[in-house]
Amino acid sequence: MTSDKPLSGARRLLLGLTGGVAAYKAAELARLLMNDGVNVQTVMTESSLHFVGTATLQALTGNPVFTDPWDPHFSNSMAHIELSRNAEVILVAPATADFIAKLANGLANDLLSTLCLARDCPLLIAPAMNRQMWEHPATQRNLAQLRGDGVTILGPSSGAQACGETGMGRMLEPQELLEAVRAFFQPRLLQGKRMLITAGPTYEAIDAVRGITNSSSGKMGYAVARAALEMGAEVVLVSGPVSLESPAGARLVKATSARDMLAAVEHELGNTDIFVSVAAVADYRPVSAKRQKLKKNGEGMTLELVANPDILEYVASLPRPPFCVGFAAETEDLDRNAKAKRNKKKLPLLAANLAQDAIGADDSELILYDDDGRHSLGKASKIEQARRLIRHIAVLVSRRSIDAAHGHC
Ligand code: C5P
Repeated sequence: MTSDKPLSGARRLLLGLTGGVAAYKAAELARLLMNDGVNVQTVMTESSLHFVGTATLQALTGNPVFTDPWDPHFSNSMAHIELSRNAEVILVAPATADFIAKLANGLANDLLSTLCLARDCPLLIAPAMNRQMWEHPATQRNLAQLRGDGVTILGPSSGAQACGETGMGRMLEPQELLEAVRAFFQPRLLQGKRMLITAGPTYEAIDAVRGITNSSSGKMGYAVARAALEMGAEVVLVSGPVSLESPAGARLVKATSARDMLAAVEHELGNTDIFVSVAAVADYRPVSAKRQKLKKNGEGMTLELVANPDILEYVASLPRPPFCVGFAAETEDLDRNAKAKRNKKKLPLLAANLAQDAIGADDSELILYDDDGRHSLGKASKIEQARRLIRHIAVLVSRRSIDAAHGHC
């Protein structure tokens, strides 16, 4: 039901290189894409040939590299049409300021710019240039035009530049571009679905500066949000205090305590199809939080705690709950604890992992428990785990709606 292969089938990507130092990174990107099962067709501009040779890209992709609109390989002199029709997506990396200006103005005076203009598939570009070229109003105007035209702009990032300066304009790293391509190729399994996700820890104040919290980076919950967005869902992310950037396209609702989080969930729940509770909610809170900082007096102190509401249990026990997914981080006896938790909270699906392996890590291994039993998702990055989880959820949700439709007949 879940696949370990990041991309299914041979997807077809046209990789365009323009003349920037970052062109050397495009060679590594081509290799990563090929390893991921993507068929890469490379087109290079004249100036990119000063930075990297066609032989490199040809050897890495196993495909001939084209540079010339009049290439005799294309019998009808329509290289631009043939190449662009053959691609599911075009990625220009690096995209120079000059090439961006050309795209923004619809110029078509070499093979790459012509096929970008002639395309009927999405276009992604990864800008790379000196920081001042990036900040120039002309470049920013051109980028705004491209965004308006539906072009996806990946990066750039900030950092040391080949010219010796530091600032915005570094091309994203090949691994980051690979992730963007993977995201692009995700099947739109959750199109039209609304997903509510809780993520991160909660913080229960003891006094003005101290509190009780759980150890949670929020990375898994944010990865679930990203994967759901990639697959077409509308996403509301209710997040405890974390230092992560909200995934583009998600609606972020911030919450601090468990009671805040419950209030936010209740408020956002209407029309939710799928509720994924990844948050590490603090089980207890101090009976009362002091407004002032407590002074130490050299003696011990006793803190009286009361139980927090269980947000997931509340949602799952509503008369008509959304499809509810729980998370469990256990330190031992994963199977027994996870199954008990799924039964207690009446969840169709629970994802469990070992706390000591998962907290704060970039990789994790999730085990899913549902009515069919136990499914291991294998070890992978959190974003890849999240994609596998969402694929599993999509199957269960569609099975449930088929059952519901039959039940009504
Ligand atoms: O903490 P516990 O192991 O019970 O967490 C299992 C699931 O319940 C998780 O999905 C967590 O987000 C959720 N939960 C909750 N409210 C709580 C405690 C846990 O929603 N107070």
